[in-house]
Amino acid sequence: MKLVKIGGSLLYRAKPLLKALKECGEKIIIVPGGGEFANVVRKVDKTYNLDPSVSHKLAIECMDLVGEIYGEVGNIKTYKTLFDIKREIDKVGVAILLPSTLLLSTDLAEHSWNVTSDSLSLYVGRLLNLKEIIIVTDVDGIYREGKLLNIINANEIEGLTSVDMAFPSLLQKFNMTAYVVNGLYPERVVKLIKGENTICTKIVSR
Ligand SMILES: Nc1ncnc2c1ncn2[C@@H]1O[C@H](COP(=O)(O)OP(=O)(O)O)[C@@H](O)[C@H]1O
Ligand SMILES: [Mg+2]
Repeated sequence: MKLVKIGGSLLYRAKPLLKALKECGEKIIIVPGGGEFANVVRKVDKTYNLDPSVSHKLAIECMDLVGEIYGEVGNIKTYKTLFDIKREIDKVGVAILLPSTLLLSTDLAEHSWNVTSDSLSLYVGRLLNLKEIIIVTDVDGIYREGKLLNIINANEIEGLTSVDMAFPSLLQKFNMTAYVVNGLYPERVVKLIKGENTICTKIVSR
């Protein structure tokens, strides 16, 4: 079973990717990002200085919205619990997790903007006992000084990148491996899912 986080950055451009995932014949759990909806929450937070827990909760609920949209656009079934996904994944192949029920009930993450859907997807991976996660976004991977990195150790990631602030240390804590890949090239994502090489950044935790 593969865990694939699809960033909200692909909200308007996800259809070819979702189609490719559905047709690739692998078992895939999709966790959606919060996209523009979460950016609205950030803006409201900036305006009213919301309680961080409230912002955290609202941003997580934004992931559900994006998940509902990906489900509709990709004709992929959505689920609120890992129980239901595990029961049906053999039958449906690809499942979208609407993560708010799981994430708010387990409440494992820090309530801060350092934690976004990248880190929250890692918690989901941990709950599923997975060793790998594929982070699908709208750039080819992680860049440093203008160059795309093929591989980077989590402890070398600093500052602004295509994964959130809490992600590197959490990846190390869970001893997981992540791949950051461009979802505008669905074939790259499918290659990663099938364990093949492609253009991406691999983040190793040791
Ligand atoms: N060092 C970096 N390497 C790659 N992307 C970066 C870097 N710094 C900032 N970014 C930005 O991160 C964006 C992807 O993250 P984000 O906007 O959170 O998208 P998503 O919705 O897919 O999570 C890219 O579009 C890129 O502009
Ligand atoms: Mg993001």
